[in-house]
Amino acid sequence: MPAVVVIGGQWGDEGKGRVVDFHARYCSVIARYSAGTNAGHTIINNKGKFALHLVPAGIFYGDKTCVIGNGVVIDPDGLLTELSMLHERGVDTARLLISNRAHVIMPWHRVIDSADEELRGGNAIGTTGTGTGPAFHDKVARIGIRVADIVDQQRFPERLREVLDYKNRVITSLYQRPALDFDEILAEYTAFGDRLRPHVADTTSIVQEAHWRGEQILLEGAQGSLLDLDSGTYPYVTSSVPASVASGAGIGIGLGPTAIDRVVGVYKAYQTRVGNGPMPTELFDENASTLREGGGGVPGTAEYGTTTGRARRVGWFDGVLARYTSRLNGVTSVALTRLDSLTGFDSVKICVAYELDEERITTLPASLDDAQRLVPIYEELPGWSQDVSDVRNLGDLPAEARQYVRRIEQLVDAPIDMISVGPQRDQAIVTRDIFGGRL
Ligand code: GDP
Ligand code: IMO
Ligand code: MG
Repeated sequence: MPAVVVIGGQWGDEGKGRVVDFHARYCSVIARYSAGTNAGHTIINNKGKFALHLVPAGIFYGDKTCVIGNGVVIDPDGLLTELSMLHERGVDTARLLISNRAHVIMPWHRVIDSADEELRGGNAIGTTGTGTGPAFHDKVARIGIRVADIVDQQRFPERLREVLDYKNRVITSLYQRPALDFDEILAEYTAFGDRLRPHVADTTSIVQEAHWRGEQILLEGAQGSLLDLDSGTYPYVTSSVPASVASGAGIGIGLGPTAIDRVVGVYKAYQTRVGNGPMPTELFDENASTLREGGGGVPGTAEYGTTTGRARRVGWFDGVLARYTSRLNGVTSVALTRLDSLTGFDSVKICVAYELDEERITTLPASLDDAQRLVPIYEELPGWSQDVSDVRNLGDLPAEARQYVRRIEQLVDAPIDMISVGPQRDQAIVTRDIFGGRL
């Protein structure tokens, strides 16, 4: 059976974890294919509330194979903490597999992440500080350390020596930071390797075999398309290689493009962004604080980052960017999240075009300067005041909310098959099957 990819259509935090947790029941393999601990996926289900950074959101079902693919960069300490937390809370992690080809976040990556941000000064990206970016830089520079290296007690010291000698020269002379200690890192990472070894596997072959047996595979994206290295708001993007857009999924897990036939685009009913960079529909008025605190939606779901706790920037839904990312990813189904959060506004706005130098445009300019000068052109729609968090049928939504959803559907140019009206697993209106009816 062809695989399905779930991607973020905005700047991340659209609710991908929540959407994957809902649909994982229909799949046998759930796999992450890109990013690192910079990702933060919040899931609320029958087992409680969880923040996952590396473990795929299928882990709660117990009978699913969960894979951290070759395209992910792994912070072993963070992963082990995540696994302990899941264990303590009664979640079985025995079926988690980690690719031996995945790269490892090393101590110098965190040093370089913060030093680079300091050097950028006023142009800082606002990274998560997790060392994820520098780990991807090293992957591309062919000086990365992979999971296969840290689990190989014989060869690891030699590889570490080679890379650390180089990195210490960079850290001390370029960044003027203290050198890192070989013995300390060797001991720490050898211990990490020992603890992770039971999960480490050639996941490429395992996923390929599952695919050829006809099993349903779900590929869980991280971040959002507008943070993508090639297609996002460069340089205010993340460094994932493979891409965070759907085209990266095959590379990051070891499948060819013909193995994937459905792409679920997760879009929040408004925009959020963490960190710096252009955001044409950003709000700074009282609507911003209302939206940031979760609007009139389910209490306790305010917009603060899952990974860093930073307040998320908020704004009205950007239909120009939504159409751009829908086409970029080949979206076949949309999951629209947090519709409940828009409850209580007198009216709601959707950006349908921009004005740039007195011209109307409907594309994202490549130039950062132009992207920062875009003036949104809005359509204003009537708001609604009824609580929608208990609605499970489209027809039971207030007419104004349905009108809002339909307008977004036209702009995104793909069917909205799921509308999430709360953070809990079953707080959703499902109008069509995201698997294209084959289940
Ligand atoms: P991800 O990174 O795309 O998985 O998204 P995050 O988990 O970082 O951020 C999404 C936030 O919205 C989390 O706090 C979720 O619990 C919450 N959430 C997801 N769907 C809904 C929804 O429909 N309504 C409300 N109120 N919260 C939601
Ligand atoms: P999920 O999977 C939101 C942002 C950071 C920063 C930029 C670069 O939860 O949607 P990095 O640490 O990657 O070098 O930071 O990218 N960023 C995210 N924002 N959600 C994410 O992941 C993000 N991953 C990275 O805030 O602006
Ligand atoms: Mg997140």
